[in-house]
Amino acid sequence: MEKMENCGDRACLERVHAHTLATLQKQNIPLLPEPWTLVDARATLTLKLPDHGLGIEKTTDHLLQDIAPSLNGSSLSPNYYGFVTGGITPAARIAESIVSLYDQNPQVHLPDQTVASNVEDKALRLLMDLLHLDQNAWSGVLSTGGTASNILGLACGREYVINQRIRSRQGENPPDTVGSLGLLRACSIAGVEDVHIYTTMAHSSLCKASSILGLGRSRVQHVGRSSSDIAFDLRELERNLEINHLNSVSIVVVSCAEVNTGLFATDGYEQLQVLRTLCDKYGAWLHVDGGKHHEVLHHGLERHQQLIPPVAFGLFARLLHEFPEFEKVAQGAEGMELADSIAGDGHKLLNVPYDCGFFFSHHKGVSQQVFQNPNAAYLNTANAVTDAIQSPLNTGIENSRRFRALPVFASLMAYGRDGYRDMLKRQIRFARAVAMYVYDHDALELLPEIVFHSKDRVLQDIFIIVIFRAKDKELNNELVKRINTGSKMYVSGTVWDGSPASRIAVSNWQVNPERDFSIVKSVLDDVLRSWSQET
Ligand SMILES: Cc1ncc(COP(=O)(O)O)c(C=O)c1O
Repeated sequence: MEKMENCGDRACLERVHAHTLATLQKQNIPLLPEPWTLVDARATLTLKLPDHGLGIEKTTDHLLQDIAPSLNGSSLSPNYYGFVTGGITPAARIAESIVSLYDQNPQVHLPDQTVASNVEDKALRLLMDLLHLDQNAWSGVLSTGGTASNILGLACGREYVINQRIRSRQGENPPDTVGSLGLLRACSIAGVEDVHIYTTMAHSSLCKASSILGLGRSRVQHVGRSSSDIAFDLRELERNLEINHLNSVSIVVVSCAEVNTGLFATDGYEQLQVLRTLCDKYGAWLHVDGGKHHEVLHHGLERHQQLIPPVAFGLFARLLHEFPEFEKVAQGAEGMELADSIAGDGHKLLNVPYDCGFFFSHHKGVSQQVFQNPNAAYLNTANAVTDAIQSPLNTGIENSRRFRALPVFASLMAYGRDGYRDMLKRQIRFARAVAMYVYDHDALELLPEIVFHSKDRVLQDIFIIVIFRAKDKELNNELVKRINTGSKMYVSGTVWDGSPASRIAVSNWQVNPERDFSIVKSVLDDVLRSWSQET
């Protein structure tokens, strides 16, 4: 390998930099690459490692000419409404380029060598501030996303509930913990036959986390009112906690889909209090899987809800608790401070680059019991006793890790609480304008129809997602395709009540309610007009 100076790397860096600037300045970012571009790009991807490398210049050509044009605009375009992808704020993008340049590895807190772990600590604290969590009561770590944060939450919950059982048998301060003994031995000492995870409509990643941690996917149990109900059935939950109390331990996960349906309880805080009381009574751990818009069903209360996958960004509704216009959604995010742990992701509504998640816990010591990286003299952090920052390798999954805190820190500093509030307000207002258009349209139906039966509900309950279908069944079967054909906007398809539906998820910081509404309206008007001309 030649020395960098001889490789023309500077010219290549300048070309990439110019490409970045030109892309960011484009008025219309392509939403998807053309199909033939994808075919051509795939054909250029060689399977064979070259004996003699291409060199940096040819490789740069390959990246800029073949690969970059074949990537989609999911993050760059404000009109990509598929899934919930988020974007990257300008401040986060600038920080991200510094992350790549310096390539820090904030695993051990090294106060004499780098400020990286201090930045992570501050980024987490700013995030707590944004979400109205008391910095003194919570500790946190950044992760790769919501899934990793759920693994962290279930691992801490598992540790806590089983250790508590050991303590009840061996007295306070027993030497035995799950972290040191392993799950099987600890359960045997604790007399624990099963670990139950009670939730409603778990996100798939919760089952994955449960499997990874040796708890089992099947132990994630739905305690909603019925198979189609996201609301906790408190009577059923308590019955389960009570029956299983003797030989089992439990983790309760608030993992809700309200962001999709727009359904919120009238008093979120009280409902979390009920869950907290139940968990305290039966020694269970309470974890919030960031889809914080929870709705807990009171005994005997009838509600009609639908199965929708949960989403890990509802907790951002906590930013809006002062605004009557958003009162209902903010109520749904109340009370999370009563949980033992909270999982969330940053790469969606925080608009920082993939991959970024966060995990907050009320029990600093429990994280250390699980994630302590023992007996590695070369990772000794003894010289870091001057301040209270924990080395992330002892509180999170990875040892080596990306400096993903910098874009979080930069974006929160650059825009502050007001900037993030403004972003979220624009996103919700736009989603509500689209939802109202659908609601008022004779040819379209806003879903779930049983929920959005009045304008008031649309205007109060819609958060950032709009699900709808065409009333004409044949058109509905191809609605997503027709909407996406013109490449002015991109929506993803879903299934609702057994038939196709279109889903608009608003998560990009660039949203401009007026501009984007007129784009969506003109696309939908065109699709409906051409359909009626054809039929
Ligand atoms: C409630 C919930 N939990 C977990 C996840 C997984 O997050 P990630 O894709 O960041 O791993 C998601 C993703 O949407 C989610 O909505």
